[in-house]
Amino acid sequence: MNIRVFPDQYGAAIYAAATIETTVKTSTSPVLGLATGGTMTPVYRQLVEFHRRGLHFSHVTTINLDEYVGLSPSHPNSYHAFMQENLFDHIDVNPDKIYLPSGDSEDLDGVCAKYDDVIRTNPIDLQLLGIGVNGHIGFNEPANSLKSNTHIVQLTEDTIRENARFFEDEKSVPTRAITVGLQSILLAKHILLLAFGEKKAQAIRDTIKGDISTTVPSSFLQVHPNVTIVLDEAAAQLF
Ligand code: GLP
Repeated sequence: MNIRVFPDQYGAAIYAAATIETTVKTSTSPVLGLATGGTMTPVYRQLVEFHRRGLHFSHVTTINLDEYVGLSPSHPNSYHAFMQENLFDHIDVNPDKIYLPSGDSEDLDGVCAKYDDVIRTNPIDLQLLGIGVNGHIGFNEPANSLKSNTHIVQLTEDTIRENARFFEDEKSVPTRAITVGLQSILLAKHILLLAFGEKKAQAIRDTIKGDISTTVPSSFLQVHPNVTIVLDEAAAQLF
């Protein structure tokens, strides 16, 4: 693992955005695996700035990791809305090349199967990842066993509590989500995981130095040959 520690999240976000920029510039049809969450907002802000200075995205395919079950794309707390608001509304991405799982479909199993087809036909060049305080990646939550493909997951109490800050209250947080599985993440050519703040320090330690275990899904990144972990000093303090 290549580990980069920055004094603060702004330097880290610039580094991450520059890595994305290189992928976008060096391929004729790059595929980016995208993530949501507070960690990604400074990265996307930087990408929007790069676009303002001339970086184009119309040739880029984007595939997001996850979505809450039960929220329509127009729901303000959906990950669809997050992506529009933080990135897609501000860059020249081609709407036909944007993929996010539909959390409000009547046929969630069908959505999962089709999403795996999308990933199979568009191999991911660069996968952006945040991390949950419990070591989840995407919404692959700690469990006795993990799934390799896109699936529906029951969110843990930790995650619901943590993500409640984006909702009116804890009761409004959906209890289920649709997420790509570990196989889809691990098949990406390059994985860029970001974590900021003291709250993530234990999860980062477990990711880098712990045993590989389904109770810390991010620990499976240890088997990937090309992972970059980008941290601020607070998230790096325990390893
Ligand atoms: C959510 C997302 C994850 C994300 C995590 C961290 O649960 N499903 O993909 O990595 O939160 O979020 P934050 O960056 O807000 O701490």
